[in-house]
Amino acid sequence: MSDIPGGKRVLLIVGGGVAAYKALELTRLLRKAGVGVRPILTKAGAEFVTPLSLAALSEDKVYDDLFSLTDEAEMGHIQLSRSADLVVVAPATADLIAKAANGLAGDLASTTLLATDKPVLMAPAMNVRMWLHPATQRNVATLKADGVSFVGPDEGAMACGEFGPGRLAEPPEIFAAIVKMLNAPAEEIFEAWPLAGKRALVTAGPTFEPIDPVRGITNRSSGRQGYAIAGALAKLGAKVTLVSGPVSLPTPAGVERVDVETAREMLAAAQAALPADVGVFVAAVADWRVDEVFGSKLKKDKGGPPALTFVENPDILATLAASGPNRPKLVVGFAAETDDVEAHARAKLARKGCDWIIANDVTEPGVMGGTENAVLLIAKDHTERWERASKDDVARSIAQRIAEAL
Ligand code: CTP
Repeated sequence: MSDIPGGKRVLLIVGGGVAAYKALELTRLLRKAGVGVRPILTKAGAEFVTPLSLAALSEDKVYDDLFSLTDEAEMGHIQLSRSADLVVVAPATADLIAKAANGLAGDLASTTLLATDKPVLMAPAMNVRMWLHPATQRNVATLKADGVSFVGPDEGAMACGEFGPGRLAEPPEIFAAIVKMLNAPAEEIFEAWPLAGKRALVTAGPTFEPIDPVRGITNRSSGRQGYAIAGALAKLGAKVTLVSGPVSLPTPAGVERVDVETAREMLAAAQAALPADVGVFVAAVADWRVDEVFGSKLKKDKGGPPALTFVENPDILATLAASGPNRPKLVVGFAAETDDVEAHARAKLARKGCDWIIANDVTEPGVMGGTENAVLLIAKDHTERWERASKDDVARSIAQRIAEAL
């Protein structure tokens, strides 16, 4: 093992599954942070990643056979199970979880899990039905009761075409959980996260513009896409301020949320969150507000409907995209369109002065208020048409693209 004096060490058990490739990225992140990695590759894992790539990235030998005489001579499985500060299983398959929960020891990975006296972290990955199956849930509960920690699984579209919880947590998230368990200093996290040290501002949800104490005007917006983007940016290490209109969604992990109601409050809160490296403006801001808000409830018996006059709200995106010392390096707007999506969105990009527009066709069934999105990424010099995906997947892709651009 790459032995760093005083450095922490992880025994990484890589199970089988499409997500096993992410174990390579996790290994890279750990090594970059100075954490030693000794890999154990299960037979099923070896169907998805090669021992050679795991060995190259970990800079160590890959252990894969319980009965290898040389390995047993060099280091027995008991010693192997204790040779690190933490045992990590990623991906943890339903099979590995079941074996560990029941104390089976038929191969090197399960024997190691049974023999270790070190803390264990599991990152499950499997089909959604397998994850939700009572047997798996029972096994997970048993392992939790035994003191095993878990990270993920995430919810999203799966390689098998189904949707739901079961996706392996992203490598930076597993990495963060490892660092936490190793009690390693925070700087180690910051070095390896792609958006480490970056600040992000995200606006989300609708705004609500009061007419009187009980009435108001608003836009339709669940806030889901903006919340997912804020969460995805935080998972990549960014310090995220989420300025949110009224929605009923939980605050994503690691995100600082500022609640506002009106467009003017949203603008003030967004300006207060600057400077930022990236601004993502997802909020469905009400374009108008009533000129004068009535101090008491308008009554019906006052001679017919009231005549309301409207004034235009400030454009938060255009205001913050205007050049100036505080303009975020990357300004991303959203456009909800019903026709001529690309042309309208491209015109909006120019009019509002932003760098990218993420455009979606809200007439597509299931987009408005739903969990899926079909988007176009429109940059100044090109357009990308992304496949329809869950709002969480779209958020992950956007966060990834932001990390590459910054
Ligand atoms: N936006 C904003 N402040 C406003 C209006 C819009 O920050 N007062 C932002 C939205 O968050 C989004 C982008 O501008 O990122 C485009 O919003 P959209 O409602 O599609 O654009 P509008 O300016 O309202 O244009 P139109 O109604 O003509 O389509």
